Amino acid sequence: TTLVGLVGWRGMVGSVLMQRMRQEGDFDLIEPLFFSTSNAGGKAPAEAKNETTLQDAHDLEQLRRCDIILTAQGGDYTSAVFDKLRASGWRGHWIDAASTLRMRDDCVIILDPVNRPVIDAAMSKGGNNWIGGNCTVSCMLMGVGALYKAGLVEWMTSMTYQAASGGGAQHMRELLTQFGTLNASVRALLDDPASAILAIDRDVLARQKALDAAQTQHFGVPLAGNLIPWIDKDLGNGVSREEWKGGAETNKILGQGAGFGSPAVPVDGFCVRVGAMRCHSQALTFKLKKDVPLDEIEDMIAADNDWVRVVPNEREATMQQLTPVAVTGTMQIPVGRLRKLAMGPDYLGAFTVGDQLLWGAAEPLRRMLRILLE
Ligand code: HSE
Repeated sequence: TTLVGLVGWRGMVGSVLMQRMRQEGDFDLIEPLFFSTSNAGGKAPAEAKNETTLQDAHDLEQLRRCDIILTAQGGDYTSAVFDKLRASGWRGHWIDAASTLRMRDDCVIILDPVNRPVIDAAMSKGGNNWIGGNCTVSCMLMGVGALYKAGLVEWMTSMTYQAASGGGAQHMRELLTQFGTLNASVRALLDDPASAILAIDRDVLARQKALDAAQTQHFGVPLAGNLIPWIDKDLGNGVSREEWKGGAETNKILGQGAGFGSPAVPVDGFCVRVGAMRCHSQALTFKLKKDVPLDEIEDMIAADNDWVRVVPNEREATMQQLTPVAVTGTMQIPVGRLRKLAMGPDYLGAFTVGDQLLWGAAEPLRRMLRILLE
């Protein structure tokens, strides 16, 4: 059987990955070898079969035993281990959630419902580095990939509403702690129906501005009752790294642009952190190459994969089906608010939501594992 090394299985993405692998019976098909960066020698989790001891995640000899390594340990780990492992002659498959390797020529960004042909082409040439995409990009393409596959997109802009989980588990905790602090600061006024809303608002603002460093250590500023229109590094050219990823990764996933000998589709916009827990949402504007009737567009999107759902562009359906709360914990990718915009018949608007930890992180990895086991 295939020996699969699992690294970073205890973190947030790793835990979701483990959960999905259990649900889908992936462990029935593999011999897992569990690694740890902090508890080598400890006991592996219940999914272990013959390999019941946790191995040191930096031990190249143990890593080299694996046919496949699946890591959700994060970019620092990838940077510390990957090149050394390859330099040692290891030829197994490396499946990774971190962004570190994504844009390297010898790495494929995996999102098989969208780019199985790109994956297959790389596999037939001996490719063995499979990297999960940026969460926002993966969720977007699961929703509207059909329009790209049909070659209909001249350009796209995305305005994102990204959840706290994109920062990490600590960021989710920080958001909730802030909400609690703000609520507590006006509790008495809230309980009194006769109190003045402007007094409540003033007190909340004062509390937001006075949050101590411990309550903003992860986001840097309050997120509760606020938003942050910058995600990830400042590239120094007015673009955030998250925004740059939108264009770079979308094209690489689709197998177009530099390196593929075809023009890239311009994809750009603004990435914004909001106080949602773990679903990223995006408002999309497409410039289509031609005027395609809306019902045809809806049919194409709905037929693209088993997880996308077209939500009728109506108030009630939107409120019930097209929110982070409705989508969290599900594999569904709803696409709604579909309509032609006032700029003209080849301008299409859409809104989509996706669980940032499922399609945005864990699911493409375990699906790649299954492809390798086929
Ligand atoms: N960069 C993403 C975010 C996380 O901060 O929301 C996953 O790619």
